[in-house]
Amino acid sequence: MSAPASGPGGNEAGKPEGGIFGVDAPTVPATLGVVALFLTIVGLALMITEGFVPGLVTLIFALFFGLCALSYLYTTLHGKFVWWADLLDEARLKGDEYAVDLGCGRGAVLISLAKRLTTGRVSGIDLWRNPDQSGKDIEATKHNARACGVEDRVELNTGNITTLPYHDGQFDLVVSSLAIHNLKAREDRRRAITEAVRVLEPGGKIIIADISHTEEYANWLTEAGMESVTLQDLGVRGWWGGPWLPTSAVTASRPGRGGVPA
Ligand SMILES: C[S@@+](CC[C@H](N)C(=O)[O-])C[C@H]1O[C@@H](n2cnc3c(N)ncnc32)[C@H](O)[C@@H]1O
Repeated sequence: MSAPASGPGGNEAGKPEGGIFGVDAPTVPATLGVVALFLTIVGLALMITEGFVPGLVTLIFALFFGLCALSYLYTTLHGKFVWWADLLDEARLKGDEYAVDLGCGRGAVLISLAKRLTTGRVSGIDLWRNPDQSGKDIEATKHNARACGVEDRVELNTGNITTLPYHDGQFDLVVSSLAIHNLKAREDRRRAITEAVRVLEPGGKIIIADISHTEEYANWLTEAGMESVTLQDLGVRGWWGGPWLPTSAVTASRPGRGGVPA
């Protein structure tokens, strides 16, 4: 039976209780907020000095940037946990899976996944780069795993997702959240997808959520022989400031041994 939408051990948003998961690319909402505040001050000043209309126009721009900042914060602090809970529900985990989270950061997905495992285990790999997520290092992720009561099911590795330190077919689930787009070179992104397929055992599944290049990932997964490759827009909860920067999920299955679909 698949887990409930909230995810076991999570709150109604699917966010594991006890962890502090940070803000993705924190300079973005900070910049949007500062621009909104600056325009608010300018707008109010213009209303006094230049009249109602120039002030109002500036305040409308301030509102726009403020809403973008709120949309971004909603997605990183709340929405991300909701759509990952849904994606993990759809994966119909049995609880005995061996999984890996590529670019796990502070463990938002790693820990949500670990909460759904009984005898299974999840490895997280990351370079622990701070600009990509606030307050992030391996110790913060270990702390979150402890605080959420899953440290016995989690292993953390430092490494690059383009050259995974794992054996062929080591995992039966590969997940990655908002990480692969950080690889600026197309060849590096392709290598990350090739590596994800390599470490997946026949019959295993891949779930990738990202803000860009997802069509590219879907094509490469198909070329790599993966089956049931699907690409879905995760909706308003995946907007990073607005509809111009949505999140999409790519899911795929590796055919079982002898080419039998999983
Ligand atoms: C925006 S954060 C997302 C973290 C986490 N997956 C989540 O959804 O909360 C992107 C993560 O990818 C990691 N990352 C970026 N490039 C990487 C690489 N080449 N190898 C390993 N990790 C990488 C960063 O250190 C960061 O933790």
